[in-house]
Amino acid sequence: MAKPRKTVDTLRSARWFAQDDLRGFGHRSRIMQMGYAPGDFIGRPAIAILNTWSDINPCHAHFKQRVEDVKRGVLQAGGFPIELPAISLAENFVKPTTMLYRNLLAMEAEELIRSHPVDGVVLMGGCDKTTPALLMGATSAGVPAIFVPAGPMLRGNWKGKVLGSGSDAWKFWDERRAGTISDQDWLDIEGGIARSYGHCMTMGTASTMTAIAEAIGMTLPGASSIPAADSNHIRMCAAAGRRIVDMVWEDLTPADIQKRRSFENAIAVAMAMGCSTNAIIHVLAQSRRAGCPVTLDDFEGASRRVPTLANVRPTGDAYLMEDFFYAGGLPALMTRIADHLDLDAMTVSGRTLGENIAAAQVHNDDVIRTADRPATRQSALAVLKGNLAPEGCVIKPGCCEERLLKHTGPALVFDDYPAMKAAIDRDDLDVSPDHVLVLRNAGPQGGPGMPEWGMLPLPKKLVRAGVRDMLRISDARMSGTSYGACVLHVAPESFVGGPLALVRTGDLISVDVEARSITLEVDDAELARRKAEWTPPPPRFERGYGWMFSRHIGQAHEGCDFDFLETGFGAPIGEPAI
Ligand code: FES
Ligand code: MG
Repeated sequence: MAKPRKTVDTLRSARWFAQDDLRGFGHRSRIMQMGYAPGDFIGRPAIAILNTWSDINPCHAHFKQRVEDVKRGVLQAGGFPIELPAISLAENFVKPTTMLYRNLLAMEAEELIRSHPVDGVVLMGGCDKTTPALLMGATSAGVPAIFVPAGPMLRGNWKGKVLGSGSDAWKFWDERRAGTISDQDWLDIEGGIARSYGHCMTMGTASTMTAIAEAIGMTLPGASSIPAADSNHIRMCAAAGRRIVDMVWEDLTPADIQKRRSFENAIAVAMAMGCSTNAIIHVLAQSRRAGCPVTLDDFEGASRRVPTLANVRPTGDAYLMEDFFYAGGLPALMTRIADHLDLDAMTVSGRTLGENIAAAQVHNDDVIRTADRPATRQSALAVLKGNLAPEGCVIKPGCCEERLLKHTGPALVFDDYPAMKAAIDRDDLDVSPDHVLVLRNAGPQGGPGMPEWGMLPLPKKLVRAGVRDMLRISDARMSGTSYGACVLHVAPESFVGGPLALVRTGDLISVDVEARSITLEVDDAELARRKAEWTPPPPRFERGYGWMFSRHIGQAHEGCDFDFLETGFGAPIGEPAI
């Protein structure tokens, strides 16, 4: 049954602005204090614009201007725009990791919406955690919401070579450690790798998560692929501003859009994009917020079915997001995996996914590949299970050297990140290319915040000898721009006594990606003995946000949300206390 359209009287903001009482007087007079006439805001949808701009977030530098384009659209459609700044979470600068604060931004988004006169919301994000955080908050708040992705930055350039965010930094850092490029080269790379505002333009977490936002149906069609510096991006911002006003009248909420099939579509798209491993954690969390939880098994199933078609680094070998946009962008890619999508899923456009992509075309078959010529023959992700990771862990098979996809080797264990950093470049480190590097105490509790430490640096002496990949295992995450045979998200994490805590240097570890298995070759009796001897590390926090975080954070296979923010806890957004 179709929902009744909202009327002037049933707008949520009418509770603030339409009452003929002292509170209503106060609200109206204080808006008029800012120079607005009553007709500017009374009876018009109040549109919050959650802007994650800051002076130290290069990925969102253009949001200071773009927000004016969103406001222009809101005004054109008869709405009343209200910009509300929210924590920016710049991936490169926030320590120890933005992941510590994803749930804080999600809470902030929810509470900003809950506490203000808001009928609908435009979410401005893009840098890694900002996308899931804003969507999680808006999902819990429940008012109509549309996501405006920041867009990828332009391709990097150095000596006529294309440079990709993150991926080429890791690559050339190894060359610098091996002594094959000069200090001047390194400086020139520093100045050439990030040429415009916008998020990382490889298939990192940002490009993955904005594509997922679009696949779920929370952005305008094609929005996630538009480069930040392209004038199409400005027009998309204004269009989102216009559309959210209509969505308020239609009462088209996240709950109308985010169904189980939307998340299944998102997982299929993630696989076709050769996604960041971080996608798993964020989609698990968001789907749980939406009340239709997906699991690691959904990712594992899709990884076996859906081919990786986006030939974008680091899984692909040549191209970046700018090329992906010129090749037709996400709508074009979705036409190639239409068999794996539910095209009847509703989107913020008011049309179905199928209607959104009906006219899309691929313009370059090398960038957006066909199923018989995928970007990699390996699946985008694989979920491994075994006695070392009873609740699962993940690897990106397309980014590994083939020899490591089935490998047994002795563990070289580092108890924490500082211990690893102090040892890894020592010439006397007892390590061979067959060793399995193990890092623990890097998970949600132990990191804390599950930092992107999972692409452990290779021992310097092996890099000098020409080694460029080794098997690495941790309870950390890794950047979506990273690559290599890195087993990540081991759950439960070592800090809470997961089996990773029991590994000792010299133990044999076997990984078989085809069999989806990971095994610590130590018998159960010995593991039980070690477990009995294990003592938990001291708590990471004694006060503040971190204290709350450590009491409520979930494990990786649950999406790392706070237990009290998952769906089913507490009442939905209700009457404001006025
Ligand atoms: Fe912002 Fe990579 S640093 S997306
Ligand atoms: Mg990243």
